[in-house]
Amino acid sequence: MSSTCLIVGASRGIGLELATQYAVDGWAVHATTRTVDQPGPLGEISGDVTLHQMDVRSNADLEALLVSLDGMPIDVLIHGAGVYRNTPREVIMAVNTEAPIRVAEALLEHVAASDQRKIGLITSQLGARRGRTGSLGDYGDSKAALNDAFRLRAPGWAERGIRAIVIHPGWVSTDMGGSSAPVSVSESAAGIRRLMAGLTTQMHGGFWTWDGREHEW
Ligand SMILES: NC(=O)c1ccc[n+]([C@@H]2O[C@H](COP(=O)([O-])OP(=O)(O)OC[C@H]3O[C@@H](n4cnc5c(N)ncnc54)[C@H](OP(=O)(O)O)[C@@H]3O)[C@@H](O)[C@H]2O)c1
Repeated sequence: MSSTCLIVGASRGIGLELATQYAVDGWAVHATTRTVDQPGPLGEISGDVTLHQMDVRSNADLEALLVSLDGMPIDVLIHGAGVYRNTPREVIMAVNTEAPIRVAEALLEHVAASDQRKIGLITSQLGARRGRTGSLGDYGDSKAALNDAFRLRAPGWAERGIRAIVIHPGWVSTDMGGSSAPVSVSESAAGIRRLMAGLTTQMHGGFWTWDGREHEW
């Protein structure tokens, strides 16, 4: 039987490419978008792909996702949805910090029931405090807070047999990263998939880069 992944935030950018690559590789792919009626390129991926409506700030959308996925094991869950700038701070915190943790916790049973039991939350190197105590800006603060929240929960997730990491995806050429970014979206997604495929118990609870290096907090 094929493995199953859930990619949260798959309409564009890294999430779209992850969904595409997993589908090409024969996985059963569940992918979320805020516009399931107009999925754009996400709707054109061939393979075993199921789309779900989800604004990651919406509890109702999360409840509906849980109903759709009832009883389904999820081998790999990747939360990629994120916002960068020109956005109110409370929205940045809701999408980048609160949502990945809420979504992952809501789906823990599904991940724990699978063969692979892996979670990857996309953070950023801009959320690495490196001992600094001041603000890192709205975006950096949101990713630093995600990292903190993840580290608090990781031991409990491990008790359920789950291996989870936060991932810096590189500076990637997407709408967010801009066209001068040095890493292509296909390179980043391939690296993240490689990282998830090789995710060991020893790596659990860590901060890793798309190309397989451990990142300082
Ligand atoms: N690109 C980089 O250089 C870079 C570097 C470090 C970290 N990251 C992180 O990598 C992740 C993916 O970034 P990207 O470059 O692929 O960004 P992107 O191309 O701007 O795509 C962002 C994705 O997040 C989704 N999203 C935003 N707000 C959402 C919400 N409220 N509910 C559900 N989905 C929402 C977007 O959906 P819509 O299409 O509906 O807006 C889109 O699918 C983010 O977490 C980002 O912070 C990126």
